[in-house]
Amino acid sequence: MSEQQTNRDYASLHSVKATLAEARATEEAAQAAIDAARAALQGQKGRNTKAPRRRVKAPKAAEPEASELDLEPQAPEQEAQAPKGEPTAEQRKAQRKAKKRAARKKGRRVLAGLLAVLLTLCVLGFGGYLYVQREKNTLEVTFYHLQSDHVSAPFRIVQLSDLHLKEFGEKNAELIGYVRALQPDAIVITGDMNNHYNDDVHVVTDLCSQLVEIVDVYYVFGNHEWVDHIHRHTDIKAKIEATGVHLLENSFETVTLNGTPVVIGGLVNEVGNYETYDAPAFMEDFMAQAGFKLLLVHYPEYFLGKLNGYEVDLAMCGHTHGGIVRIPKLGGLYSTDQGLFPELYEGMQTVPGGSTVVVSRGLGGDSKIPRINNNPELVVVDVSWY
Ligand SMILES: [Fe+2]
Repeated sequence: MSEQQTNRDYASLHSVKATLAEARATEEAAQAAIDAARAALQGQKGRNTKAPRRRVKAPKAAEPEASELDLEPQAPEQEAQAPKGEPTAEQRKAQRKAKKRAARKKGRRVLAGLLAVLLTLCVLGFGGYLYVQREKNTLEVTFYHLQSDHVSAPFRIVQLSDLHLKEFGEKNAELIGYVRALQPDAIVITGDMNNHYNDDVHVVTDLCSQLVEIVDVYYVFGNHEWVDHIHRHTDIKAKIEATGVHLLENSFETVTLNGTPVVIGGLVNEVGNYETYDAPAFMEDFMAQAGFKLLLVHYPEYFLGKLNGYEVDLAMCGHTHGGIVRIPKLGGLYSTDQGLFPELYEGMQTVPGGSTVVVSRGLGGDSKIPRINNNPELVVVDVSWY
């Protein structure tokens, strides 16, 4: 290599170094511009200060390599064109999709909740229906004991009330079986065995015909028989009497139950009509009789005032259906003539005046409200001197 050639190489090398120095200076100038731009962006409230790092390089797009940047998708350009702090079209689209997904998810949750509530109500309703059906067909026997000085030998009375055409088995075979098994000395019926809007009373007459085969039956009308007999002029009285029961209409009979004389009277009037049909005269005559006095009267309300001047050994009533719905610790909910939370609606108690009153909850019902916690009731009263 000649000296001249070597000098040209050195000159070329210096030229390259100069070019590199110039490029470094250009880069430093660009960095200074970047720093200035960043400082300016930081001064803008609410703007993203990190974004410019990439965007500051955008001017290099004018350089030869920029052709590669031109091939990038359109979206970044749109993003770059969107106002700073505002969502891009792509972001808005994504947000709309997210909102739709959230709405669909919420809708599914609400629908699932409604279905769960509906299913629960159906289960509870069906369970309640089964409970009511089972309860109204399950007989309950209630035993009471009454001590009386007017009794020489013990006797047992079985009471049926407020059947309202209900049947326990074919022709009330189950009910008859219970009564027969209880071996009563007398059977008493305290009214409302029919429904006054139904002329077909074969359920009542079939029952009475079987009961009289067990022992003597003493029957006093309730308001339903009374309406048919007095107001609708049906032949219910003749049909019931034809079964062989002792129908008591403001009248009494003196009988002997297991060796003890018992006067069994039947007061038929509704409380509001007590002054009619010689009821007061009947009561005076009845109370004048010697021996144990058993009064059959459909309406327990008589012992909330009207008959509290009489001391009856035992009065047996019905009419209240046990208050229809028996609420624990509160008692019966409703009875026709006593309203909400009736006072005399079930059980045996001594009322003012000294009478002992038994109120049957009855065997059926004519109310649209189902009996709840209130099984059909057969009442048994054992009376003795001890
Ligand atoms: Fe009644």
